[in-house]
Amino acid sequence: MKNIAVIGSGTMGNGIAHVFAQHDYRVALIDINQDALDKALSTIEKNLDRQVDKGVINEQGKAKALQNIHTYTQMENGVYEADLVVEAATENVEIKLSIFRELDKICPDKTILASNTSSISITKIGAVTGRPGKVIGMHFMNPVPVMKLIEVIRGYATTDEVTDQVMDLSRKLGKSPVEVNDYPGFVANRILMPMINEAIYTYYEGVAGVEEIDTVMKLGMAHPMGPLQLADFIGLDVCLSILRVLHDGFGNPKYAPCPLLANMVEAGYKGAKSGEGFYKYTKGSKEVTVSERFKK
Ligand SMILES: NC(=O)c1ccc[n+]([C@@H]2O[C@H](COP(=O)([O-])OP(=O)(O)OC[C@H]3O[C@@H](n4cnc5c(N)ncnc54)[C@H](O)[C@@H]3O)[C@@H](O)[C@H]2O)c1
Repeated sequence: MKNIAVIGSGTMGNGIAHVFAQHDYRVALIDINQDALDKALSTIEKNLDRQVDKGVINEQGKAKALQNIHTYTQMENGVYEADLVVEAATENVEIKLSIFRELDKICPDKTILASNTSSISITKIGAVTGRPGKVIGMHFMNPVPVMKLIEVIRGYATTDEVTDQVMDLSRKLGKSPVEVNDYPGFVANRILMPMINEAIYTYYEGVAGVEEIDTVMKLGMAHPMGPLQLADFIGLDVCLSILRVLHDGFGNPKYAPCPLLANMVEAGYKGAKSGEGFYKYTKGSKEVTVSERFKK
């Protein structure tokens, strides 16, 4: 594998493009939005600088990585010789299904089609293509250049050969891939989201305050960040939508999202990206304080 196409150049897409380019793959980074592509390139450059400062790569490595990335707004111009496509577009079923239908038409037969989805069924995505055996999940973690894990998700029809190829490729990126089967939430979010939801219920039922809940999990369980702050960073809207996928997929009330989470999302309090969730975030400042709404 040499040619990689990455669809979507947002938070995850720019990190995925960065990691492939750093490991000397040729990367076509594709987004419908030119501004998103420009922003992605500047983020990648900043993150490469950070790696140079830390001694992870040198200036030559940085220059080579940047040369390896080309950007496109038209999918067909970026994917026509791709060995692998990693789709990291907006988490929306209709958007993803339409991208995969299109990819199936325009990519060579050999191309493996991967999705970085956090929660949408790989089996369902594969079923809209004529090559479900070559459709697989590559669930990178944020921030991609730093986090070691790739959850490799086998759809119902994904072949052993394709799974092995993607596992090998993930190791070549310096990552530690873990193979899992395609059921709602896969492994990471099936375990993480109920914990976050339970933390929200714990606040909602008046057991303890926001800071107290996070402190218990940080100091008591050695988590680097409390579950409520982690929810803010993931995006409360993202947490809500993943919980709904778990709830629908298993039909089990234990996954029902806490009504407080639904209310916060409805009101536009989506966490760090919107400036406020359980905590308040000020642009350009590292200071994070518990939101006034959650102060006793
Ligand atoms: N953010 C995370 O922490 C995280 C972690 C793991 C997985 N994911 C998954 O990664 C994917 C991307 O998430 P993100 O946080 O990077 O989103 P994002 O909103 O930052 O970026 C999505 C990008 O996709 C582009 N896009 C939308 N439709 C497109 C299309 N048809 N063709 C090309 N580009 C298109 C948008 O313009 C945008 O730039 C989602 O499936 C998400 O569930 C996110």
